[in-house]
Amino acid sequence: MKIIGTGSALPTKVVSNDMLAGFLDTSDEWITTRTGIATRRLLSDDNLGDLAIEAARNAVASSGVPIEEIDYIICSNVANNYVTPSLSTIIQGGIGDCACPCMDLNGACAGFIYAIDIAEALLKTDRARHVLIVCAEEPSKFCNWHQRETSVLFGDGAGAVMVTGGDNLIARRVTARSQKDVLYYKRPLESTPYDRQRDTSEPLVMNGKDVFRMAVQGSLGDINTLLKEGGLVPNDIDFYLLHQANLRIIKSIRESLNQPEDKFPCNLQRYGNTSSASIPILIDELAREGRLKPGALLMLSAFGAGFVTGGALLRW
Ligand code: ACO
Repeated sequence: MKIIGTGSALPTKVVSNDMLAGFLDTSDEWITTRTGIATRRLLSDDNLGDLAIEAARNAVASSGVPIEEIDYIICSNVANNYVTPSLSTIIQGGIGDCACPCMDLNGACAGFIYAIDIAEALLKTDRARHVLIVCAEEPSKFCNWHQRETSVLFGDGAGAVMVTGGDNLIARRVTARSQKDVLYYKRPLESTPYDRQRDTSEPLVMNGKDVFRMAVQGSLGDINTLLKEGGLVPNDIDFYLLHQANLRIIKSIRESLNQPEDKFPCNLQRYGNTSSASIPILIDELAREGRLKPGALLMLSAFGAGFVTGGALLRW
């Protein structure tokens, strides 16, 4: 497969660390030094569906693919207001009159790489010629906003790519290891007269130190495996595009690979952790700035609740 169009959309509301310190026991200094995040965009007057549609429209426009030639829409989303119908069908209705199949997937923060994995399979088996991948997330709405440990980390946003057949995806790898208690969010369901277990909802629970450790180990495992599969060494990669969770996680991975900082473009300072949307938003920004030159080698790597990881080695 190859990427032939990119798009993104972010909420208009910019929230600084100082604004959070106005109602949480935290500080700009703590958040910046522990995470690298300075501001995040949070949904306020806007909603996730509209953001997803805008990102999708931008990707479709930059690809030049007519709406009716989209064969599949895959939306990566952890949770949103609509449990059903799927967000991908809402996106389909918003971008115009295309009648392709739609599917949502929950690969947590690694959802973009999971979507690439599925799109590649659809393209390879001639089930599709053009697949639109949209990652749309509102993790700010999973958090308890009285808890400083989680709420300061996240931002909302959407990123999208259009992919078609090609040989630019050199290697990919997705993994999952069940680790339910490390990172989870339980949302409420309606109760029934027969429900004797009465599951309760719970805002995002995260063991930050475990996530940190598993993220660095998982990401390095994927990157080294993909380098080996591609017959490459770390120096061969032009850009490492990592899940934008935390600058310290990225620094740790970068130092293990002994690579310079400018090979690891980041936007988490401005947007916080936008879950699976973070990598496609970053790709869209770099593409629009003209920083991705044809032929450039990109290493994508993400990790998230599950615990899942995903990596992709591709040529731009
Ligand atoms: N402001 C001020 N103090 C805080 C805050 C805050 N927002 N949050 C925690 N603290 C306090 C803690 O209560 C603790 O206080 P104590 O020493 O009195 O107990 C102190 O700061 C240190 O807390 P630690 O948890 O040890 O801080 P750490 O250096 O581990 O940083 C962090 C915490 C940023 C969460 C880190 O563990 C981390 O980055 N983990 C990975 C988290 C992550 O990326 N999650 C991604 C979520 S989803 C995904 O993308 C996979």
